[in-house]
Amino acid sequence: MNRVLYFPHPPFEFPDADREFLISQKRADSAVHKNVSYRPAENKVRGFEGSPEVLERLTGIMRNYSQQVVSFVRHFLAPYDGGYKLDFASFRPLEEEGRALPIHKRNDLLHVDAFPTRPTHGGRILRVFTNIHPIKPRVWNVGENFPVLAEHLAQDAGLNRFAAAGDTTRWAAIPRAFGAPIPHRSAYDRFMLHFHDFLKENATFQTDSPKIRMEFPSMATWLVFTDGVPHAVLGGQHALEQTFIISRGALVKPEAAPISVLEKLCGRALAANPH
Ligand code: SIN
Ligand code: FE
Repeated sequence: MNRVLYFPHPPFEFPDADREFLISQKRADSAVHKNVSYRPAENKVRGFEGSPEVLERLTGIMRNYSQQVVSFVRHFLAPYDGGYKLDFASFRPLEEEGRALPIHKRNDLLHVDAFPTRPTHGGRILRVFTNIHPIKPRVWNVGENFPVLAEHLAQDAGLNRFAAAGDTTRWAAIPRAFGAPIPHRSAYDRFMLHFHDFLKENATFQTDSPKIRMEFPSMATWLVFTDGVPHAVLGGQHALEQTFIISRGALVKPEAAPISVLEKLCGRALAANPH
């Protein structure tokens, strides 16, 4: 699956009432004024400050979306069942067009995903999106395949340097004074975090690299490995999303994973063997 797997309607239950509730929250007087995340393992919503009643309903809707996506993926992508870690879900209530964000946070620039707080050690980032806007499409640009992208730009981005430096064991041993401890990152994770920023900063790549525009209409649902498919969101409002980390050992085509592509290019291992 090198591109985007598209469904015109969600291939699972999604009640109209849930959608109406979510959309109605985006008003000037509402507390839902930024992206909220949902942690399935704790059944907790983050980034929302509002009344306990609204929080409870929001949490219930997110839990239901998450559970529906999970049961769909477990059947539809059966080989990955048992080989993934369920990551966060999110509700994205903001209009994506024209958001004023610092460059590394801008999702309207082509990039591949990497999470600073959740290193994958070579596992893949699979995301399921649903556009719940009643009429507006969610508009993406999708870039060239990862092997082509890496061939063009990984060395320029310093792949060999990251490969030689290895992982962050030394620094990870020092706990941070405040907040969460620094996660243990493999050379792969460190490179991918850098590559994400490098691509967003690279004006030539942004303007000249091949890309296709995709419009996801209302209620479309799509699955994409966002670590390997360069993407940018140009417009649209109100989306739901659930993320999975597919472990390297569970992959059906491990040779297509970004870590394998990069290891081949630099001739070194970029993470410890999958377990
Ligand atoms: C992303 O760049 O990962 C977000 C895309 C979206 O919200 O449509
Ligand atoms: Fe992204």
